[in-house]
Amino acid sequence: MEPLSESGLPRGQEGLHPRLAEVVRRHLEHPDRTPVPDHTVSAYRALLVALGPGARPLVLDSGCGTGEGTVALALRHPEAWVIGVDRSQHRLHKGPFRGLGAVRRAAGVGNAFAVRADVPGLWRLLAADGRKLAAHYVLHPNPWPKKQHMQRRWHGHPAFGSLLALGGEVTLVSNFSVYAEEFAAALTVARPALGEVRAEVYVPDPPLTRFEAKYVERGHPLWRVVARLGG
Ligand SMILES: C[S@@+](CC[C@H](N)C(=O)[O-])C[C@H]1O[C@@H](n2cnc3c(N)ncnc32)[C@H](O)[C@@H]1O
Repeated sequence: MEPLSESGLPRGQEGLHPRLAEVVRRHLEHPDRTPVPDHTVSAYRALLVALGPGARPLVLDSGCGTGEGTVALALRHPEAWVIGVDRSQHRLHKGPFRGLGAVRRAAGVGNAFAVRADVPGLWRLLAADGRKLAAHYVLHPNPWPKKQHMQRRWHGHPAFGSLLALGGEVTLVSNFSVYAEEFAAALTVARPALGEVRAEVYVPDPPLTRFEAKYVERGHPLWRVVARLGG
């Protein structure tokens, strides 16, 4: 069995990836042109219909998993439409957004939506329409702890430029310190005007999501990055 780190992750990359800045710059210079999957295009159209013409601020919970965090965020941002996005029907079905549709509502929480879609595709569609976020939560993304998988982390992904274009106050939380440190460093590379963005130790009280609750229960340390990307 692979040895585990103090965060319960398989031991993997230590320290920032040596090619991080180069990869971030390359992706910003050459925007992602891979086709957005059809199901994500349909889900996006259904989402626009569900949101309607009203101009509420938008809050995104990218990779929302079962969606408990999306509901908690909707209560924290009552003035906004809060949209959880996840590709996993299995995960969405285990939480407050049961059902089969591409866009679901949570009973009793009128401003919360969940969309079953591909996160990078949805980011690109929103950004291409010029939509801006008030806040963007990326809570416990898949860590991809191995060095060779850095480009699967969101800051190493071709869609990172769309995350930047969507703006708002972005919050990333992870139990993999390297993920948070790299995300902070990637923001510093991409947006020098922000100054040096840092990852900080984070103790949630109470935990917002299902993964967060699990990590807190096991005593795993967590890291958070918060940055105002502007509109
Ligand atoms: C580790 S879980 C965290 C879930 C939730 N944020 C939490 O903290 O409980 C990561 C989630 O990201 C979703 N995910 C990963 N890559 C995705 C992608 N490309 N598009 C949509 N969802 C994705 C997975 O399905 C999974 O539910």
